[in-house]
Amino acid sequence: MPNRHTGPDRLIRLDGPHSTFVVDARGDGVPRCAYWGSSLPADTDLETFCDAQARPVPRNALDADTPPTLVPLAGFDRLGAPALSGSCADGRSVTALVLTHLTREADGVVLALDDAAAGLGLEVHVAIDPQTGVLSLRSALHNRGPHPYRLDWLAAGTLPLPLDAAEALVFDGQWNREFHERRIVLGQGIAGRENRRGRTSHDAFPGLIAGQAGFGETRGAVYGFHLGWSGNHRLAVETDVEGARLVQAGELPMPGEIVLESDERYDTPILYAAFSEHGLNGLSDAFHRFVRRRVLVWPNGVMAPRPVTFNSWEAVYFHHDLKTLSDLADVAAEVGAERFVLDDGWFGDRDDDTSSLGDWTPDHRKWPDGLTPLIDHVRGLGMSFGLWVEPEMVNPDSDLYRAHPDWALHADPLPRPTGRHQLVLDLTNPEAFAHIHVALDALLQHNRIDYLKWDMNRDLAPGTVSGRAAVGRQTRAVYALIDRLRADHPHVEIESCSSGGARADLGILSRTHRIWPSDCNDALERQTIQRGFSRFFPPELMGAHVGPPQSHTTGRRLTLAFRATTALFGHMGMELDLRTLDRAHRTELTGFITLHKRFRDLLHSGQRVYADDPDESRLTYGTVRPDAGEGLFCIAQLTTSAWRTPPTVRLPGLDPARTYRLTLPAPPPLGCPIGTPMHAALAEDGGVVLPGALLTRSGFQPPPLWPASALVMHAVATDAA
Ligand code: DGJ
Repeated sequence: MPNRHTGPDRLIRLDGPHSTFVVDARGDGVPRCAYWGSSLPADTDLETFCDAQARPVPRNALDADTPPTLVPLAGFDRLGAPALSGSCADGRSVTALVLTHLTREADGVVLALDDAAAGLGLEVHVAIDPQTGVLSLRSALHNRGPHPYRLDWLAAGTLPLPLDAAEALVFDGQWNREFHERRIVLGQGIAGRENRRGRTSHDAFPGLIAGQAGFGETRGAVYGFHLGWSGNHRLAVETDVEGARLVQAGELPMPGEIVLESDERYDTPILYAAFSEHGLNGLSDAFHRFVRRRVLVWPNGVMAPRPVTFNSWEAVYFHHDLKTLSDLADVAAEVGAERFVLDDGWFGDRDDDTSSLGDWTPDHRKWPDGLTPLIDHVRGLGMSFGLWVEPEMVNPDSDLYRAHPDWALHADPLPRPTGRHQLVLDLTNPEAFAHIHVALDALLQHNRIDYLKWDMNRDLAPGTVSGRAAVGRQTRAVYALIDRLRADHPHVEIESCSSGGARADLGILSRTHRIWPSDCNDALERQTIQRGFSRFFPPELMGAHVGPPQSHTTGRRLTLAFRATTALFGHMGMELDLRTLDRAHRTELTGFITLHKRFRDLLHSGQRVYADDPDESRLTYGTVRPDAGEGLFCIAQLTTSAWRTPPTVRLPGLDPARTYRLTLPAPPPLGCPIGTPMHAALAEDGGVVLPGALLTRSGFQPPPLWPASALVMHAVATDAA
């Protein structure tokens, strides 16, 4: 479409089911977002709508007002953080973009912008998923000039927030304690996070949710942002004194990392964003449905039922032999496992974490006949087989490193700091890349492997090749390696693990199928971790394992019922020495796995909801069918309540106009008294029939629960088929 239009055809509205996004591309300048929020009426006169937003020139300011655009630029239309910064070979750093083309696409728009003086072309892609309303924004910079351009920052996208989005949830974490939510107040200035760890990180998850003061699970307008990228990033909200509040996110290059030679182009990762008028549940629902529809790529195009998984790590660590692992497989199959994953310890001479990464052939001392006997045994039991790998790493004590010390990321002659006794392989080196590709390809060709647990256990420090920053190139090389393996072995599923949850993002998830949210299998800690994780990721890809009776990472002892109930609501698995379980515990575990399989379809396709609960000592959540005909809920009592009588519990997602039969599909936990006639009836086979209005509005009176115990409830609409 040629430019110089000022008419209504330059006002573009993108609609989701409950939201509208309007781009004002009138004039030659950089277009701006004129609106993002709940759906506008179909007949809205967009010209009037946008014209009414014209701002007065502020006092003591430049003589023309320049409202923020989709690409705020330094020194011209904005004096805050720019979306693009860099410098030409002659030192020129000011960029002025004009709109040269605007292309409408089915669900979006592509803006082509030009800075003729600097020889730069910028593309901004904005798309909406009409089914979920999730926006995808990405940008690309093309150096059309004859000289190199040093790019210091290019936001994937810049989005406005209203000033009454005055609070934000940010996500903190560390190993064993990922996805912890912290609420901050947004004022003037910058709030945000920069990640320089070279992987998505435990501590700076690339997601943020902003909303009206006091927003909750079911209330308040909220806006969610997530950068689909597994390397360094910046995610920031900036509020300027003119009253504009902008969110920017993108890959964070280190000095000199991105230099575009003549005719080179740089593509940002994708910034995903969604809006919900009804609190966090609506936002998670949009992200979950979007991930299911548009991000996950399953073998054969559809998700097979998520197999209940046994993982060997906390069962035997590095102590492998055929008899031990076969015995574990026997018990795993007996209690209901459908996939068996052999974790770390099977290759090289690996008796601990000090050696052998890089030597991807079975340890002949432990596996004299290779992995085939175990794989055959596992398959004979009707389970699929998964294998742990950590392809991006090399131990200095390995044959690979001894042969190719130059294949590690380095800043020679500076020291090479190890992390978990390992270094990072330079996958930007084509020879190193080819070597690892061949090794993994051979593993997959010669063994019947259905699943890889792809681990990555250290930060990139230095994230450099010969001292030049390389995190972005390394991240793209990892993506390329996975893509290549998936193309050649399309039946293989992959789990993304990084010392627990340090690589959880939609960039890695567009090429993997499960995320390991944390090495913490302590169910009490897991409740909070899983809530934070669930803000953006659906439960079917959330690895959730029943760990040992005494947690290996916290030392805490928890009942099997609480551990299993906590795992029940994700992609359920087990990670403990099953041989040590007595008959009663095997039976109890089998019961929970059977329960998971009974509700697996609902749990892995429904809407995850959390309740706004006045009692901070517990978490109430569940999964409901989109038609609200059925829901499986959990009241997880984390600590002792401040209230002698437990406050009533609301079950979100159900329909207040319908009536539900509430039953207990699992035995009530220890210490849960059947204190009232209703509780007694609830524990009976037929359960109790209660109005949806009670369940969703005034709330249902739960029995008191001991700390670290949970009650599972099943609600079915009495009119449901
Ligand atoms: C870290 C992972 O998070 C664990 O689950 C386990 O696979 C170990 N690595 C193995 O070394």
